[in-house]
Amino acid sequence: MIVIGGSSSRKLADDLARELGTDVIQATSKRFPDGECYIRLEREGIERDVVIVQNSHPDDMFVELLLLQDAAARLGAEKITNVIPYFGYARQDKLFNKGEAVSAAVMVEHIEMRADKVITVDIHSAETLDWFKIAKGVDVHATSCIGSYFSSKGIDLVLAPDEGAAERAEGVAKILGCDWDHLVKTRLSGTEVRITPKRLDVKGKSVLIVDDIISTGGTIEAATKQLRSLGARRIVAVCTHGLFTMGALERLRKCCDAVLSTNTLENEVSEISVAPAIAKAI
Ligand code: R5P
Repeated sequence: MIVIGGSSSRKLADDLARELGTDVIQATSKRFPDGECYIRLEREGIERDVVIVQNSHPDDMFVELLLLQDAAARLGAEKITNVIPYFGYARQDKLFNKGEAVSAAVMVEHIEMRADKVITVDIHSAETLDWFKIAKGVDVHATSCIGSYFSSKGIDLVLAPDEGAAERAEGVAKILGCDWDHLVKTRLSGTEVRITPKRLDVKGKSVLIVDDIISTGGTIEAATKQLRSLGARRIVAVCTHGLFTMGALERLRKCCDAVLSTNTLENEVSEISVAPAIAKAI
């Protein structure tokens, strides 16, 4: 087996190869002057199973993912496993309004043309993986990696900002051996949320807020306001997928003591590697 790193996920590909005890090829990826992608795997042949680590987000990374599959297949790769740490377009997984595209289905159809197995991390809806007809789809959770990272870091309470993240918070809390709770969130717009006031015993405590995605940071900011008003001493925010759009990181650094993410999306705070969880699924 050999791991191939695409340009969205080079560090994670290195981590994964280390976990699996295999070699890694970092693909050469360039842009033509018109913006089109050029991919090359600098090998004479790859007559082995390959694990391609590459996101389907943003759009240009998805094109690169398809080109990486093709390059590997042309070099004689046997079984192709696509690790898609952040599966882009997963949130449009049904028709919300007549006339729309079901974006997640389009991703699945294209990826499946060249994949034998697909591994995602905390995908928006695990049912999306059931749409793969030929490839086997597996979703792994970042909970164990997040829990290990925060063990012995003095967390008193793990908090989910909404009910959807409650199971994740519970999983992390179990690893840390501390309490957990969840808030109730109402989304007002793409950038604004309202968190229903709730009595929480957080006075003087160190609280870890856990979510799957931080995008604009509106959710975490609203949760943080409530925790501060209740007297929390230290607030750390962590997510699996750190999209950090619209200056979210700067915004959150003003209200949180620390902000971290896993390396499904590589950014300046993606300190927590999900490679151990992916290696287990491989
Ligand atoms: C939504 O339910 C997700 O779990 C996240 O809470 C959401 O995507 C975060 O978005 P934002 O950072 O823009 O509030």
